Amino acid sequence: MAVKRVLITGIYGYISQYLLRFKPNNVEVYGTARRQYDRPLPHVKTLFSLDLFQDVQQQLDSINEPIDVIIHTAAESKLAVCEKQPELALRVNARATGELAAWCQLNKVRLIYLSTDIVFKGDKPPYDENSSPDPINQYGYSKWQGELAVQETLNDFAIGRIALALAPGLNGTQNFIDWFLNRLNHNETIPLFKDEIRTPTYTAELAKNFWRLALSNEKGIFHICGGQPLDRYTLGKALCDVLGRGHELLKPVSLNDMTDYPRPVDVSLKSTRTIDGRPLKIASILNCLTRIIKDVK
Ligand SMILES: NC(=O)c1ccc[n+]([C@@H]2O[C@H](COP(=O)([O-])OP(=O)(O)OC[C@H]3O[C@@H](n4cnc5c(N)ncnc54)[C@H](OP(=O)(O)O)[C@@H]3O)[C@@H](O)[C@H]2O)c1
Repeated sequence: MAVKRVLITGIYGYISQYLLRFKPNNVEVYGTARRQYDRPLPHVKTLFSLDLFQDVQQQLDSINEPIDVIIHTAAESKLAVCEKQPELALRVNARATGELAAWCQLNKVRLIYLSTDIVFKGDKPPYDENSSPDPINQYGYSKWQGELAVQETLNDFAIGRIALALAPGLNGTQNFIDWFLNRLNHNETIPLFKDEIRTPTYTAELAKNFWRLALSNEKGIFHICGGQPLDRYTLGKALCDVLGRGHELLKPVSLNDMTDYPRPVDVSLKSTRTIDGRPLKIASILNCLTRIIKDVK
């Protein structure tokens, strides 16, 4: 099979570390970052500079490698930041994505855009790929506008919506799992929503399916998820069970206790599409917890 040259934006981010870990053999990876960290980037042939606040097309023009596919992970992913600074969220998550899509259209590059379950309001689950987005916070709105920019600008694209990605952070990144285990190991109370439902997915499985999508010719929207709706309190109890720990540190909390930004109640995703005629291969999150814990260094 011919080698594909894939550029991953936001190469130091959490999900990018899993994309690097599961890089297929027939792929050469290039990366972009807005600043360089003192961390190794296994498999990355060349690192390019890309700041989503600056003109994206101009920056991509200076990349002197023929690229076949871009996996666009870079984003302002902190919901509280997006809520406080909606203009920043729109610039980074929507307008920059539109500029990137326009460059891809001009240069015949396939684009894979990572989006989110938070594009939905959360009152009519489950949401499949044909459900209409109706976000209730600025992060969700900006990511939806990014989706629209891709759809309006480009022919060869796939949008992969994901829910809560679960697995330890690699290479200096952090995840809910790291936060949870850190509190548990220090015998600190662990507040967990009992009324926020998502379809958490093992990050390793997400990464493998994003590679399948990137290397396919499939187009349109995909829900890349494990399909098991779950609240964080139930998830916490299951994690404690796998670790042989009691539940006494777990404290159920409600979305109503949080006022920093509106949070959708139930954004369970349902996946109805196939990639190259085969369904997405993603195990239910409860069946992945042992593997997730084993991943902890
Ligand atoms: N993780 C999840 O559970 C989850 C769930 C749903 C959707 N998603 C989506 O999946 C994608 C990846 O998520 P993630 O968890 O890997 O996020 P992450 O760890 O926050 O990584 C995002 C990357 O984007 C870069 N970035 C932010 N602002 C930038 C800017 N102005 N210019 C250039 N780069 C910029 C960051 O660089 P710095 O290191 O320099 O800040 C970082 O490397 C995002 O699009 C997110 O919306 C993630």
